[in-house]
Amino acid sequence: MIFSGSSHGDLAAAIAKKMGVPLSKTQISRFACGETYARPIETVRGRDVFIIQTTTHDVNENLMELFIMLDALKRSFASKIHVVMPYYAYSRQDRVSVPREPISAKLVADLLSTAGADHVITMNLHSGQEQGFFDYPVDNLSSYGLFVDYLKKKKLKDMVIVSPDAGGAKEAKKVADEVGAGIAFIHKHRVAFNVSKAMEVIGNVKGKTCVIYDDIIDTGGSVCNAREALIKAGANKEMYLIATHPVFSDPAVQRLKDAKFKEVVVTDSVPLPKEKQFPGLKVISIAPMMAKIIENVHSDRSVSQIIK
Ligand code: R5P
Repeated sequence: MIFSGSSHGDLAAAIAKKMGVPLSKTQISRFACGETYARPIETVRGRDVFIIQTTTHDVNENLMELFIMLDALKRSFASKIHVVMPYYAYSRQDRVSVPREPISAKLVADLLSTAGADHVITMNLHSGQEQGFFDYPVDNLSSYGLFVDYLKKKKLKDMVIVSPDAGGAKEAKKVADEVGAGIAFIHKHRVAFNVSKAMEVIGNVKGKTCVIYDDIIDTGGSVCNAREALIKAGANKEMYLIATHPVFSDPAVQRLKDAKFKEVVVTDSVPLPKEKQFPGLKVISIAPMMAKIIENVHSDRSVSQIIK
């Protein structure tokens, strides 16, 4: 059975359509005081259940609704409960980097399990090591294959894949090797939450067509600063941007419009309502990949070929 939370109904519908199965019905409502109520309408007794709920700018609402739905499913004797959360919010809070910080990514993994999740399917966790935060099975899919196919079709001349920070350099190198491009990265310095400064470009970008490659675009600061730094270093002004999770918090859309990237290529791991769309934005759907994963998990078949 496949259920959709209220965060990304379009993606859930696209996955169900691809699989040729209906979405199971839920009752989700709010009390006047803001409390959430959620329950499956039909029996789930003994069933293999998948619940699709990504996280958006309403991240805490999305999580609370998911916890409550998991609790309802667990108490209704579902046999196995799989959470499909394409964008795993809090994944950037994955370590203590200044004293007394929480590790919120681990806390969310614990809360999901406490609420009733037996398994999580997610995509491009901010760092691969976060898989260790789940004391139960997690499948961390990658958008790598989708973006590599896209770039191969583009056949850009003198292409350099650029990671806007050192953390993403390994993934950017993997893509660069696969598409036969050069590699560069930016030495980024974060001055506050969501405020970063691009320091210097490491690698040769002079006269090259740069493809900035990141996992998350939140406020758009990192990638737009990276663009500025690359232009200063002599890169072509015609630049591409690729990122898995288009969170697009304010003022990301305005920044991206102003930056005039030739193309901004993202997945639909997060919903993109009309007001967050703009010329040059290309959205690659993860629905076919997610549908295949769910089918394989449900029939106890390997997912490793799809994950890489
Ligand atoms: C940071 O380490 C991430 O990979 C992203 O670069 C960052 O979270 C994007 O945030 P923003 O768009 O607000 O700069």
